[in-house]
Amino acid sequence: MSNNVKYSYPNKLSIIRFFKDAEGVRKNPIPFHRRYFEKLGDSFSIRIGFSKYIILSRDNEIAQYILVKNQKNYHKSKFQSVYLSKYLGKGLLTNDGDFWLKQRRLIQPAFHKQKMNQLVDNINTTITSELDDLIEEKPIDLFPVMSNLAFNVVAKSLFQLSTAEDKFHRIKFIIEEVQNFLIKEIRLPHKAWWFSLSGQVKKHLSLAEENNKLIQEIIEERKASNEEINDLLNMLLETRYEDTGEGMTVEQLIDEIKVLFIAGHETTANALTFTLHLLGNNPEVQQKVFDEISEIESQTDNIIEQLQKMTYTSAVLNESMRLFPPAWITDRQNLEDDSLAQFKIKKDTLIGVSFYELHRNPKYWNNPDEFIPDRFLGEQKKESMQYFYPFGAGPRMCIGTGFAIYEMCLTISQIVKKYVIKSNNDVVQFNPLITLKPVNVEASFFKR
Ligand code: HEM
Repeated sequence: MSNNVKYSYPNKLSIIRFFKDAEGVRKNPIPFHRRYFEKLGDSFSIRIGFSKYIILSRDNEIAQYILVKNQKNYHKSKFQSVYLSKYLGKGLLTNDGDFWLKQRRLIQPAFHKQKMNQLVDNINTTITSELDDLIEEKPIDLFPVMSNLAFNVVAKSLFQLSTAEDKFHRIKFIIEEVQNFLIKEIRLPHKAWWFSLSGQVKKHLSLAEENNKLIQEIIEERKASNEEINDLLNMLLETRYEDTGEGMTVEQLIDEIKVLFIAGHETTANALTFTLHLLGNNPEVQQKVFDEISEIESQTDNIIEQLQKMTYTSAVLNESMRLFPPAWITDRQNLEDDSLAQFKIKKDTLIGVSFYELHRNPKYWNNPDEFIPDRFLGEQKKESMQYFYPFGAGPRMCIGTGFAIYEMCLTISQIVKKYVIKSNNDVVQFNPLITLKPVNVEASFFKR
């Protein structure tokens, strides 16, 4: 049977269009994706070579199928499993199959609600001290401020008592440096020879090694101190594999800690930046958040109870992540031939799901480009949640969802209580790299 008969793929993007647009796509793929979806339908394909296809989709049925219903047949692509792990190690985010499952089972308990509740005071204190230095009454670039805040929240949740501020700075520097280089390698594959020859690959591998050493030193210090501290490191040191009763090796622990830093700080910083921008442009929404927080604080001093009552603030955060999902795209590859919606796809087909476009697909959302937090309240919320993937879906859904929601609600609440936010940009700019990174998003903070 010929390939064409056996397999069928979504409408194809012509190879001429693909090459014509290549440079623009490299700079910012999002406007191109929108155009292709409008022209070709909710999924389209690109033929690579003789019989290989790439599919890009904004179709909810396809997202559900590959992430939830038949997730066993879909592994992460090479981009996530091979390239990311080259510098970042083999942790939860970059592993697949049995080893991933073993690690997920081991680490999941550290993120259970009960455990998060134990971390919440520490998270809140870190946020307060980060916001102490917030520059007032003049425009500031939000992302670097939110990035420091989110990094330190993860760092202090992992290593509560470590006083090694200089080590934290260095770890942050290395993670960002290595991540930027990785993006260069992925986006400019034709320059691989130059990156190698000019010593850049070697330099970044040695930075990655330095990072391992820094984290190892912090772990060794903790082990030597024999202190019982209620932080994530303690939970990760105490957790045991079900079958052997053993804990993780130090090497594995270092890789998992790196993944938590990477997965946990930029995503949260992006979401907070976009949310502050939206609040700064929508004073009536900001007022409602302020009213909600004031009302809640008059009812209880208990932070967990306060968080549980932040219905409107959570709706604002959800609507912000609908419009600007920090993890804007994900991908998978199928292990075996499969029927995907009405298509028949060959094994090893690369399938991307653009959460950015799914979250704005007019088939699922009314006025999709408008900021309407009420979509995430009451009855409307049930409907909206079916098409909403800020944290992914299925067994590989974000392990830090609860952590991120606590952190974001507490940050927004602390800021709105103290300040009136005014945006300095009407339109938000971003750069879709591994995450959807805000660019020059400015706001001013005026004391209430
Ligand atoms: C607003 C903040 C966050 C967003 C939007 C976000 C989003 C996501 C998404 C979409 C995935 C799934 C990717 C896929 O299926 O391909 C994911 C996975 C993951 N996230 Fe998050 N995340 C956030 C915060 C965090 C935090 C705070 C942590 C940890 C402290 C974290 C740790 C992880 C880990 C370890 C994974 C891999 C899970 C696995 O594959 O088993 N994330 N995240």
